[in-house]
Parts: sequence; structure tokens; C-alpha cells
Amino acid sequence: MDTIRIHGGRTLSGAIPIAGAKNAALPLMAASLLTDQALHLVNLPRLADIGSMRKLLSTHGVAIENGDASGEVSFNAAAVADTTAPYDLVRRMRASVLVLAPLLARFGRARVSLPGGCAIGTRPIDLHLAALSRLGADIDLADGYVEARAPGGLTGADFEFPAVSVGATENAMMGASLARGETVLRNAAREPEVVDLGRCLIAMGAKIEGLGGGTLQIQGVDRLHGARHSVIPDRIEAGSYAIAAAMTGGDVTLEGADPVALEALIDALRRSGVAIEVSATGLRVRAPGGKTGGMELVTRPYPGFPTDLQAQMMSLTAIAAGTSRITETIFENRFMHVPELLRMGADIRVAGATALIRGVARLKGAEVMATDLRASVSLILAALVAEGETVVNRVYHLDRGYERIEAKLAACGADIERTPAPS
Ligand code: UD1
Repeated sequence: MDTIRIHGGRTLSGAIPIAGAKNAALPLMAASLLTDQALHLVNLPRLADIGSMRKLLSTHGVAIENGDASGEVSFNAAAVADTTAPYDLVRRMRASVLVLAPLLARFGRARVSLPGGCAIGTRPIDLHLAALSRLGADIDLADGYVEARAPGGLTGADFEFPAVSVGATENAMMGASLARGETVLRNAAREPEVVDLGRCLIAMGAKIEGLGGGTLQIQGVDRLHGARHSVIPDRIEAGSYAIAAAMTGGDVTLEGADPVALEALIDALRRSGVAIEVSATGLRVRAPGGKTGGMELVTRPYPGFPTDLQAQMMSLTAIAAGTSRITETIFENRFMHVPELLRMGADIRVAGATALIRGVARLKGAEVMATDLRASVSLILAALVAEGETVVNRVYHLDRGYERIEAKLAACGADIERTPAPS
């Protein structure tokens, strides 16, 4: 397995181009199953998770073609041969469950393995299943698979999510787009990635109102058609590099970053003393001296502070002046970066869902191991400011969500290199 080696202490300065959002791209790719015409997606990031979704769609019979250098890829689900999403593919990536509603809505049946994915809590899919049942699907669980049937198609209905779920909102929105009649989804997720999927569905002929709000009204249509859609920039990638710039006392422009989608992070960084300017090309993040103040953070569904930036903020607060408190309300067991940060000299105490972080003057390099995607990047950030050398193991987690991370950081002056696994 590859490792990443970092010598800490360099100030980052320069520009980092932000890739297309992984969490927008995955549901958009799944949406290609809703039509027999080609869906052309532009600005897909080059990531392991995108590769996993391509593999899954190929298994279903989707023809995938790489287009020109703009990164356009076309997905044509005219000849879907198989409506089973097998365990071997789904276990690698939880977002595979997003093929459930499109297959069910268009073909009247789907068989999808129960997912595995990141080791951050139990992460059930009950909300996905509850919404689809409400739209008329018969659902059984057998041999580790969800077996869903709707031989006469799905039917519009009124459904209130008992808790906000990004993936369940996306599945329900895709199912409702091809259902008979009107669907109202209440307490829907409002994340920019959900909005991006909604915009693409509308371009494919869906009738959706209320995007970006908590209530979505969807008028089902008989069929959807092909479209061309550009994936929004990755707010989590941009946010991670913004935090890296702040921690190293740097001056980094995040090209293409969307300030609106990043508002909760921008507010938190500004409050702790980081200068952030919005320009026509993106976001400029400056933190002369690199010392930020302590902060209080609670993760919440959008527009609240994103759980996917919680681990990175933990690294920042580990070297901030003063004490910080970070509470994770979205996922249980999402503090797996803490023991590794402790090994680098951080002072963090966890009690239940809250971590109390006392900023230390400096972190020290160590050999560390990443246990999930966002935990991995938090260790990279800590390593950028740590004294001496840090070796981050199990880098495959990073490759699921960060495109060419070592190249992007090295271009801004970081002393970072990847050592490929011996073959
Ligand atoms: C998506 C993101 C992930 C992000 C998360 C929260 C993708 C591909 N992934 O994941 O990076 O961390 O949103 O912003 O977009 N839950 C249930 N039952 C369900 C579904 C979810 O109890 O059926 C719980 C989850 O365990 C979690 C919470 O609801 O505690 C939120 O999960 P959800 O919003 O569904 O996250 P994902 O869509 O899996």
C-alpha cells in the first residue's frame, strides 16, 4: 500500500485548482440509470470512488465513454442487463446504494447489497428504504441484500424524513422523478450536492420544485431524457485546503471554490482570525503567522458545519491558541483521527460526541495510520505543521476523495511525497 511522507514546517502559498465534487458526482452517475439516453457529465473528479461507481454501473450494463480533455464522460443506460448491485462492489463504497431508486423506478426491480463503506458508525439505510416504501415499493431484506420491487412503477406520495439524510433524499428524489403523480419530501437534505443532482434531473426532464429548501415537490414524469451537466466544485476538498493554508500561515487561492457552499467553514475560520477574500476566480485564504484562536464547533446538516470537515478542523484546533470544543452530531464514532493526533502530540479529550482540544505549541511527526477518508486528510494537515517527518499509512482512503493531493500541496511548497507500495 502507498504511503505519504511529509516534512512539516513549510508555509503554503500559491493556487490550488478545486476538482468536481465527489459527493455530487456519485449520485449524478447513478442518475444515468434513469434514462435510455446518454447523460454527459463534465468535471468528474479522478478518484477511486468514481472508479468504483463506474464499475458498478458497468456491471448493470451502462456503456461508459470518456470524452475529450474537459473530463466529460458519457453514461448510456439504454441496455441495462442486470439490476443487481453485488456485495463485492457495494461494500467498497456506501454511495453504491444510490443505484437503488433509479433501477427500481425505471425497471420495477432492484437488488442491492447492504453497504459497508467508511468505518464511521453503523450507517444504516433505513431512511432510503422507508422513503421508497412510501412510494409503493415492496422491500425485503434477504441474504444481505435489499430486494425491492414495484412492478407497476412507483407512485407519488407525501413523506417526511424522520432525520435528515443526504443519500436518502437523493434516492427518494430520483425515484419520485419517475413515479406516477406528485411526491412531497419533507425534512429533505439541503446540501449543495443534493441541489446539483436536482438540477441535473431537471435538465433530464424531471419536475422538481423547492431545491435547496427542506421541502421538495416532485411531479413524476413518464420518462427522462439525456442531458449534459457540469459537476459543482468540491466544497470539502476546497475546505480541506483552506484549513491547510490557515494552519501553515499560508496564502493560498482555491481556484473555482464556491464561497456560498463553504459559508459555515468561512465563518468559523474568520472568527478564529483567518483572512478570507472572495474573488471572481475563487477564494483566497491567508493566515499570516499561522496562529488561529480556539473555537466552538458543532456539526450539522447543511447549511450547518459539515461533518466532512470536522476532522480537519480538529487538526487546526490542535495547534490553535486556546481551547476548542468540537461536537459531532451526524455520525457516531467519527473521532478515529483523535488517537493518531494524540500520537503527534495533540492534547484532545473525548467525552461522548464532544472533543475538548487544548492547542499545543507544536505537533511532532510520527508514523500514523488513517482509518477513513476525512481522518486521513486531517493527518496530512497535522503533518504539514508538525516538527520532523510524518509517514501516513493506508493512503487508499485519501485516494477515495482527494485528487492528486500530494501534487496539489507540493505545488504550494509542501515537502510531501508519495511512496508507491512495493509491487
Ligand atoms: C453523505 C456524504 C458523506 C457525508 C454525509 C453527511 C455522499 C456520497 N456522502 O453520506 O460524505 O459525511 O452525507 O453529510 O454524499 N442515516 C440513517 N439511516 C439512513 C441514512 C442515514 O440513520 O437510512 C444516518 C447516518 O448513519 C448518519 C446520518 O443519518 O448518522 C446522516 O447520513 P447521510 O446524510 O445519509 O449520509 P450519506 O448520504 O451516507
